[in-house]
Amino acid sequence: MQKTLILLKPDAVQKSLVGEILSRFERKGLKIIGLKMIQLDDAVIGEHYDFLADKPFFPSIVSYMKSSPIVALALEGHEVVKVVRQLCGATNPADALPGTIRGDFAKSIDNNIIHSSDSEETAAKELARFFKAGELHSYERTLID
Ligand code: CMP
Repeated sequence: MQKTLILLKPDAVQKSLVGEILSRFERKGLKIIGLKMIQLDDAVIGEHYDFLADKPFFPSIVSYMKSSPIVALALEGHEVVKVVRQLCGATNPADALPGTIRGDFAKSIDNNIIHSSDSEETAAKELARFFKAGELHSYERTLID
């Protein structure tokens, strides 16, 4: 089954949106297979946003991503990469439709609440960046119905 990596960024934590966002993923039926709060440092932010390192806004991404702990989330489900990106909405909140996470809660592209992997290949790299092998769980949902 496909897996993806989601980061609930500092503004999601500071605005008390962690439960609301987790609830949206759970209501969609996606399976939580990993969840933890982390204080990011320069090294992991630099690695995660390596492709943006030469952008003028890179220093502001680093300071934003360090401004409080974040929540890292691993989800599993059918086509979960695409499903999660639809639930998140467009990267720029000005383009994100109402009903999506960014459309409902995010302020601007530099404070856009949430990150999700953009492909299955990226997800594999990003899951390994934020979770050790033993922190991702494999289980059946036997207690429903
Ligand atoms: P994310 O999905 O985490 O992946 C890349 C991030 O770069 C993106 O969300 C935004 O937070 C950030 N980003 C992209 N463009 C800009 C911009 N013009 N100014 C500030 N941050 C940006």
